[in-house]
Amino acid sequence: MGTPTLRLFLVLVCCACSWTEALQEPTVPTQAPPAPTLWRGRNYRPHHATPTVAPTAAQHSEIKQLMTNLHDRVGILATLDEDQRHRLEVIDKKIDQLLDSNTGRMESLKAQQLNFQQRLDSFEHIQRLTRHTLDELKGETDQILGPRQARELSHKQKNRNKMRELSRQTRDIPEQHMDLFYRTESPPTTQGRSSNGTELDVASRLDALATFLVSLAYNVKETQQGVAKLLQSTNNIRRRLANRKPQSALPAQGVAPVEEHATSCLQSYLAVNGILKLQLTPQSDAFYVPCQDDGWTVVMNRSSDDVSFERSWLDYKEGFGNIAGDFFIGLDKLHALTSSTLHELRIWMQDFENNVAVAGYDSFAISGERELYALSLLGRYQEHLHPPAGDSLSYHAGAKFSTFDSDNDNCLECSCAQRHKAGGWFNACGTSNLMGVHYSKDYQRAGETGIYWDTFQGKDYSLRRIKMLIRPIVQDEARR
Ligand SMILES: *[C@@H]1O[C@H](CO)[C@@H](O)[C@H](O)[C@H]1NC(C)=O
Ligand SMILES: *[C@@H]1O[C@H](CO)[C@@H](O)[C@H](O)[C@H]1NC(C)=O
Repeated sequence: MGTPTLRLFLVLVCCACSWTEALQEPTVPTQAPPAPTLWRGRNYRPHHATPTVAPTAAQHSEIKQLMTNLHDRVGILATLDEDQRHRLEVIDKKIDQLLDSNTGRMESLKAQQLNFQQRLDSFEHIQRLTRHTLDELKGETDQILGPRQARELSHKQKNRNKMRELSRQTRDIPEQHMDLFYRTESPPTTQGRSSNGTELDVASRLDALATFLVSLAYNVKETQQGVAKLLQSTNNIRRRLANRKPQSALPAQGVAPVEEHATSCLQSYLAVNGILKLQLTPQSDAFYVPCQDDGWTVVMNRSSDDVSFERSWLDYKEGFGNIAGDFFIGLDKLHALTSSTLHELRIWMQDFENNVAVAGYDSFAISGERELYALSLLGRYQEHLHPPAGDSLSYHAGAKFSTFDSDNDNCLECSCAQRHKAGGWFNACGTSNLMGVHYSKDYQRAGETGIYWDTFQGKDYSLRRIKMLIRPIVQDEARR
């Protein structure tokens, strides 16, 4: 940029020199103009061109002085010229330095751009991989679950779109970078600042990208876990179906029809008006039982004196009463039920003031007729039941069954059944008498013949209503 100015300057200096030479010629003007006018350029020429008369001695000395003056000035000018030349050299050097530093900058920018390109390439590679993984996952999920996972897939699609958007933004960056690259022609100060700014921009974009990839990886991991869980539950269901098939196939192969037979009130969905037909084994006779909520089977129900419980061994063996009202299911059926699978026992009772109490036992079973229907299994009394009736049955555990015509009660001199006007598992009599006489009057002073539960209202109080319930004990796995 300095070169034209330099030339102009040199031309000017030459002009000045030629004028000074001209002034040194003998034909010099008689009337020298004052010193300042010498530097007024062309204005001087008319004075110089004008011929004059012969100069006097005074005029001569004046001219000489003027000449000396001029020489001095020319000398000064020459020094100035030298000075200017030196300065120009310095400027030239500086320009060279600037050009060099610009080349350096350009090279470093090129390197940066290359670096960025590599990063972008690696990102695109990762993106391709991720997309591939997602596609694979989608395929697997579709295979396993079909349309059920449509929502999750749309979520994945959204993520993919986000990623595309991000990748598009990232591709825009190189253009900005190139722009910066061309701007190196502009003054160094602005260039430095903009470079810094763009670098920051790129860095922050890369940071955002990294964050996004991390979150994407997390999402993919989560989806994988979900798929694994679903696979597991599908396998579980498959296993259960495989286990069930042989069972349901059994009646079809045999002579029996495919009709489903209930074996306990756990299948109370088969009950009609609360009455369920039970068939414990394909060979055994079916019979009816009343079911209550939560799989309980009612084996004895008492609420009035309509049905007498002062009955013979045969009656107790077969059962009696009305299944839909007051009844006892019968010792044979009770034995069949409690020996088919492990049951728990619950006794529900209510007094004439409508106070209710319950007593439960962890397990319950009676033996067959040969063992005189002994109360062969009575588990732990369940303390947690509310409101508690207390334990008035454990005393009877292991006792054989007795009726007025079959005395198996450990009492040598008495017949507990006759004394209590009931059937029951007497052990030289006992602490409860659930098969006693139902009293509607004077129930508070009924005495040992009444329906009593010692730990609830005492031995003299005859209860208004009682129920004896049993329920199969099921493992959590089987109940599901
Ligand atoms: C470039 O950015 C860094 C970090 O923000 C800052 O410390 C530095 O002063 C900046 N340089 C220029 C030339 O702007
Ligand atoms: C028990 O007897 C009462 C009175 O007859 C009756 O209302 C009830 O339905 C019977 N059965 C059960 C399971 O409570």
